[in-house]
Amino acid sequence: MTKTIRSQVVLALAFAMAGAVSFAQSGEATYKARCQSCHGSAGIPNAGIAKLLGVKSVTDPAVKKLTVEEMMAVVKNGKNKMKPIKGLSDAEIKSAVLYYRGLK
Ligand code: HEC
Repeated sequence: MTKTIRSQVVLALAFAMAGAVSFAQSGEATYKARCQSCHGSAGIPNAGIAKLLGVKSVTDPAVKKLTVEEMMAVVKNGKNKMKPIKGLSDAEIKSAVLYYRGLK
């Protein structure tokens, strides 16, 4: 009996961990597929893109002061030369934004 409970706990933990990992990966995968070309792999655009489109670095104070909701709105509605990014669910946008915010 105790053994059954223990293996159920282990199983539940394994699922919880798998969930956390796939969540992180999907934000990273979305970012790499849909954002990285302009914002750079480390959140820092290459000099050409920065100059051409006005993309700021993730470390820029003007970017850092934005909330998650404000960033999600940028992805949905666009901003200046960034066009709205189509075909992503709210959850995908949020995880990509969280991944972007985690870049330093
Ligand atoms: C075609 C290039 C391009 C792509 C692709 C792109 N962006 Fe942007 N992004 C921009 C530009 C240009 C701005 C506006 C910069 C400005 O004028 O302040 C911007 C602005 C932002 C901002 C507001 C902060 C800022 O820099 O002003 C966030 C947050 C952001 N982008 C996140 C994302 C995310 C997340 C994705 C992917 C889902 C994405 N972007 C895809 C070009 C792009």
